[in-house]
Amino acid sequence: MPNQLFRIKPIDPNAAQSSDLKRVLGKWGLTFLGIGAIIGAGIFVMTGKAAGDHAGPALAISFIIAGIGCGFSGLCYAEFAAMLPISGSAYAYAYATLGEIIAWIIGWALVLEYLFAASTVAVSWSGYLTSFLGEHGIYLPQIIAKAPIIWDDKLGFVATGSIINLPAVAIIALLTSLLVIGISESAKMNNIIVFIKTSVIILFILFGFIYLLGNGFDNWKPFIPENTGEFGKFGWSGILAGAGTVFFAYIGFDAVSTAAQEARNPQKDMPFGILVSLAISTVLYIGVSLVLTGVVKYEEMSTQALQKLAVHQEPIALAVQRMVDYMGSSMAWLGFFVNLGALAGLTTVILVMLMGQPRIFYSMAKDGLLPPIFSKVHPRYQTPHINTMITGGIAILLAGIFPIGILGDLVVLGTLLAFTIVSIGVIILRKKNPEAYRPFKVPFVPVVPALGAAICVLLMLSKEPIAWVIFLGWMAIGLTIYFAYGNKNSRLKDS
Ligand code: ALA
Repeated sequence: MPNQLFRIKPIDPNAAQSSDLKRVLGKWGLTFLGIGAIIGAGIFVMTGKAAGDHAGPALAISFIIAGIGCGFSGLCYAEFAAMLPISGSAYAYAYATLGEIIAWIIGWALVLEYLFAASTVAVSWSGYLTSFLGEHGIYLPQIIAKAPIIWDDKLGFVATGSIINLPAVAIIALLTSLLVIGISESAKMNNIIVFIKTSVIILFILFGFIYLLGNGFDNWKPFIPENTGEFGKFGWSGILAGAGTVFFAYIGFDAVSTAAQEARNPQKDMPFGILVSLAISTVLYIGVSLVLTGVVKYEEMSTQALQKLAVHQEPIALAVQRMVDYMGSSMAWLGFFVNLGALAGLTTVILVMLMGQPRIFYSMAKDGLLPPIFSKVHPRYQTPHINTMITGGIAILLAGIFPIGILGDLVVLGTLLAFTIVSIGVIILRKKNPEAYRPFKVPFVPVVPALGAAICVLLMLSKEPIAWVIFLGWMAIGLTIYFAYGNKNSRLKDS
């Protein structure tokens, strides 16, 4: 029955008060959670490719465009998070506005964002660790430190000779254990690491500007390299394609909204956490992209150019090398520190993603759409422990086997779908329930949410057909589970 599929969960005015999870996060704790989830593989690993293959020095403009798109969605998340401060994030917002089946679809898409992102970033973490140790003369045997399969555009899946990506498995296992023990312990560790990674980025920008003042800004000329005749290869279309790539770098600000029931004062602090973490990350990203393209000529960062290097180096590491060469060997610590910062940065992304996922499953189970085991809370630790372990277990499987590229596009598609629905949800709820108490309001509705949704849909359409096929397959599996379980067990059944 269609009306059953679109049943809406009424907004509970007491949602902000009730919680069986422990409330330990203040406004800066939430902001650090956001930065913890945002700054990671996007800036440390993907930025160089976006400059070298798509945008050139105009990468900074790509970051601004992606940042504006995320800012619009961020405002919509902030409105909902203040209004409905419950753990489910976009899933819960969709349930209150668009109906159960849409909520389910979003919940299922968020698995791509959180669980798959945790695995994707764990694979990057493993790569960084391997090269970091290698630089210090410690060589991990490839048989246990690489994905056992890779994807080749012509051959499909190809065996690499490795058995398991053990570092990726180990980091997820470690962080999952931490999350079972407690969110306040996890939040403390997150705060320390966020401090390290933001310091590293600020140092990179500072020393980068010193280098540029001494060596000139020639690499920025031309700032927008001429389009090669192919869409997405430099020029304005390249800037757009670059924005599509660096969008990954912004994913995570919404993770703040999954911790609503662990926030001390969610109605005020969640909008703050979401918007301030997004703003800080945007400023840092623009700084990094200006420095990076100033120090290393964009042509040296193309996929082709990087493949020709005798020893693989991430573009950020290449830039640091140039700075150290210029400033003298007494600056060698900078390289070490930046690598450490990158490893630390990737760690908190995995941590927060692994924290967000169980909290979405938790909400879905509370609503009857997933089995009750997902909403069990540990009597002493007050964490959704079983659900956290199930999430960690699946993330371990994915990270131990798959290479990074396969999962990345799925993460982006899942996230963009969630952002689109949240933006549309704001417009719908303003119409349907104009009187509801909104501690934070998106300005210029419906223009801002409509633009946010439009940018997200555009970015979704720019993804490869193969990613869409897997994405739709994933959604089909989700709908099968919904009809087999959630639809029959929903708390709203026959209500
Ligand atoms: N924004 C996160 C990262 O860049 C997902 O790693």
